[in-house]
Amino acid sequence: MRYYFAPMEGVTGAVYRRTHHAFFPGINKYYMPFITPTTTERFTPRQKRDIAPEVNAGVPAVPQLLTKSAADCIWAADALADMGYAEVNLNLGCPSGTVTAKGKGAGFLADPDALDRFLDAVFSATHARISIKTRLGMHNPAEFDRLLAIYNRYPVAELTIHPRVRQDFYKGKVREADFAAALPNCRMPVCYNGDVVTEADAQAVEARYPDLPALMIGRGLIGDPSLVTRLRGGPRADRDTLRAFHDALYAGYCEAFGDARIAMLRMKEIWFYHLNLFQNSEKHGKQLKKATSPRAYEDAAAAIFRDLAVRDDVVPGWFRPA
Ligand SMILES: Cc1cc2nc3c(=O)[nH]c(=O)nc-3n(C[C@H](O)[C@H](O)[C@H](O)COP(=O)(O)O)c2cc1C
Repeated sequence: MRYYFAPMEGVTGAVYRRTHHAFFPGINKYYMPFITPTTTERFTPRQKRDIAPEVNAGVPAVPQLLTKSAADCIWAADALADMGYAEVNLNLGCPSGTVTAKGKGAGFLADPDALDRFLDAVFSATHARISIKTRLGMHNPAEFDRLLAIYNRYPVAELTIHPRVRQDFYKGKVREADFAAALPNCRMPVCYNGDVVTEADAQAVEARYPDLPALMIGRGLIGDPSLVTRLRGGPRADRDTLRAFHDALYAGYCEAFGDARIAMLRMKEIWFYHLNLFQNSEKHGKQLKKATSPRAYEDAAAAIFRDLAVRDDVVPGWFRPA
């Protein structure tokens, strides 16, 4: 099985990817959070800070584009291929209202004819290897038949399916039956993505789909960064390793942002998923959330590593809102 780290905007930037890769081996690809190319045909300085090959040195990173403009997609995909990226991913899954209102991300799925024209233009012009990350549809999983018929017409390098529709956002159960029905009809290699949080979750997906080549994990890996290391037979990260990872990440953010306060805010995003890995973390978690200065944050984080034991019984689905 190949394991991929899901892209998470605001979470899995270059510093996170590098640090995770250094501490927890076993991830085949780290998908980068989306960037939106513009008509200027140049990446912005902010985008460059994440996609520059030197910030991803040694990390198997895959850039992701979010656009509905074939022209913008083509120049950006070609530029990324010329930087040395072996694959460029298209985001057809982002459910955010500001994105879908513009017909991008999952919003593009609502207009299959336009999507078909877009893919036709992109695949006939780019020299990049293009993969796609998609949902089952905008409103209804029945939309996927049509969407898959379109994807199947192009040389899509890999299709990652998050089996929800846009209206689901990240809530409720994944639409497992719809994924199972679609899988045999996919002409390209498929990657499953959604709600894998424990080793048992991953093993269940692998047992259900024995021919599935790849599994992408997002929130589960932020919460439990040694999850894939263990799936590959490695050890569960102990408190010292988690602390060393935390400290390296925080130091990396402080350096990258040149501002400990911004680094603290980044770390708090991660703790939202990660805190559950520690037993009886409620009180310590409150202290951490309350911290308004880097000093208070550092004290609160140190107290977690000092006082709390690491769980080995991560609760399935703990982060899923009902
Ligand atoms: C905070 C956040 C940011 C995300 N950013 C992106 C993104 O930039 N590109 C993308 O394709 N998916 C993005 N996703 C979706 C994840 O890649 C993934 O599909 C989703 O979290 C479901 O997988 P999981 O259950 O393993 O977390 C994001 C999800 C979250 C929660």
